[in-house]
Amino acid sequence: EKGNYRHFMLKEIYEQPETVGRTMTNYVDEFRLSADAPEGLGFAKIDRIIIIACGTAYYAAMVAKYWFEQIADIAVDIDVASEFRYRSPVVSQDSLFIAVSQSGETADTLAALRYCKDKGLRTAALVNVMTSTMAREADIALPINAGPEIGVASTKAFTSQLTALASLTLAAGRARKTISRDAEIRLTRALTQTPRLIKEALLLDESIEAIASDLSGKSSAFYLGRGAQTPIALEGALKLKEISYIHAEGYAAGELKHGPIALIEDGTPVIVIAPYDTLFEKTVSNLQEVASRGAFIILVTDETGAASAKDMADEIIVLPNSDSFVAPIVMSIAIQLLAYHTAVARGTDVDQPRNLAKSVTVE
Ligand code: M6R
Repeated sequence: EKGNYRHFMLKEIYEQPETVGRTMTNYVDEFRLSADAPEGLGFAKIDRIIIIACGTAYYAAMVAKYWFEQIADIAVDIDVASEFRYRSPVVSQDSLFIAVSQSGETADTLAALRYCKDKGLRTAALVNVMTSTMAREADIALPINAGPEIGVASTKAFTSQLTALASLTLAAGRARKTISRDAEIRLTRALTQTPRLIKEALLLDESIEAIASDLSGKSSAFYLGRGAQTPIALEGALKLKEISYIHAEGYAAGELKHGPIALIEDGTPVIVIAPYDTLFEKTVSNLQEVASRGAFIILVTDETGAASAKDMADEIIVLPNSDSFVAPIVMSIAIQLLAYHTAVARGTDVDQPRNLAKSVTVE
């Protein structure tokens, strides 16, 4: 039931302080400040992780690649399932395969899981629906426990996928001895604070709605990010296009000069995702490049970032400061609300967008 919410999507956006907290209880010991993963994943011994998914789940996998590589020093290959399954991928027995799927039924992701299982890899499925085919067929089913997601546009499943993958990264870091106990405590504590930060982010709803009313009159938009915010830019663009039908593209900010900047005209909206982290200055310089060509800049940042760059944007969305480890989770709330309100302003069918199905069980 939608309760007092106008759409399931909005309800699901608002559930996130709770759903992210619930995901964490499956992996994180808040008293010991450490994360646990099922033994069978074999983090200490594997030489590579292959994460396969589609759509929003793929963007969660993309964030996880940054995390696993930086924190647990494991090579991570990611691919969209429809490409992976048809390109004769070379896989080694020492790799761990993880399918990420809200439904656990997506046909291409399931085929990728079966392919790797046939090759003798250890397989895991990170799913919301624990009775799904993927959960049954994988060696290890990993829950996100976000509760049923009804809106076709994935929101709470995404932040829960990120939360589970962040937890697994910390467990892998410990198993592989790539992080000190101090770092583990700091990162785990940062993770346990995300429900509170999401709650604060949700307070921006009205101000984001006002910005969305400007965006709703545009015919195309660009999203930029760097590092682990690149997938959030891609996810922001996906969310906007699928429910508002505005043409939207997400790019790694550094790629802009290599082509897409040619599309920037006077008034083209560019949503720049840039919390104050080690890449902030670089992203801001990309922001200036598009601003000087007339782009309408919507800066999505945190308090520290806002203090340093607020004069450079036409509109600004200021999220609470967070450890850069969990910032992709916090930033997600802003891009979800922005897409939601833009779609509502355009009068589209937010929960049942045209041409889309909740679960893609055909190839
Ligand atoms: O159930 P799955 O997570 O496997 O679904 C994957 C995609 O179909 C899904 O994330 C899709 O991209 C959503 N409509 C995005 O909002």
